[in-house]
Amino acid sequence: MNILIVFATTEGQTGKIARRAAGHVSRKAHHVDVIDSEEPGALPDWENYDAVILAGSVHQERHQDSLINFVIAHREQFNSLPSALISVSLSAATDDGRPAAQKYVERFLWITKLQPVRTLLLAGALRYSQYEYFKVEIVKHIVSKTAGTFEQTGDHEFTDWNALSQFLDKFLDQVAQSRASRAE
Ligand SMILES: Cc1cc2nc3c(=O)[nH]c(=O)nc-3n(C[C@H](O)[C@H](O)[C@H](O)COP(=O)(O)O)c2cc1C
Repeated sequence: MNILIVFATTEGQTGKIARRAAGHVSRKAHHVDVIDSEEPGALPDWENYDAVILAGSVHQERHQDSLINFVIAHREQFNSLPSALISVSLSAATDDGRPAAQKYVERFLWITKLQPVRTLLLAGALRYSQYEYFKVEIVKHIVSKTAGTFEQTGDHEFTDWNALSQFLDKFLDQVAQSRASRAE
């Protein structure tokens, strides 16, 4: 199958997740194209694709505008293909934070009107070594709200890579099955 991945990243973790996802999908013998919504370049040839995977991260309770705008601009094409959404946040790292992570997704879906067949709440990373003063202060505030006991110095990756692989496998199976049943 031909799979399109569209992602947005602010500090890089969702970029890493998109690249890992592309590697996983191509190892399953599918063709993958990856678009960074910040620099979309040439418009995708939508007719070439069987499914699309979107990945974006949350900052101050919102996904990136570039991703929202990309989806809105291509809403018809997105909703004519099976899609999966990966929402990366700190809230997804804890049980107590997951309702907030789910709320961010609902807002994204409400604004974009995207209708994904699957959604994954995936924990991201904290990299204090890369944040300037204001970002550190914002992150400290977010951490206090997510009820997690996170370190407030250093770099920490919380992403569950197995959960990502399992999610992708289930999505690819689902797309393959619905293609097969349409062909019958
Ligand atoms: C300035 C800033 C604001 C953030 N705001 C939130 C937030 O509101 N809710 C949340 O769950 N995580 C929040 N996070 C955590 C990010 O979602 C997490 O660091 C993620 O890995 C960022 O992905 P990226 O590197 O692809 O941009 C914030 C992180 C930063 C640096």
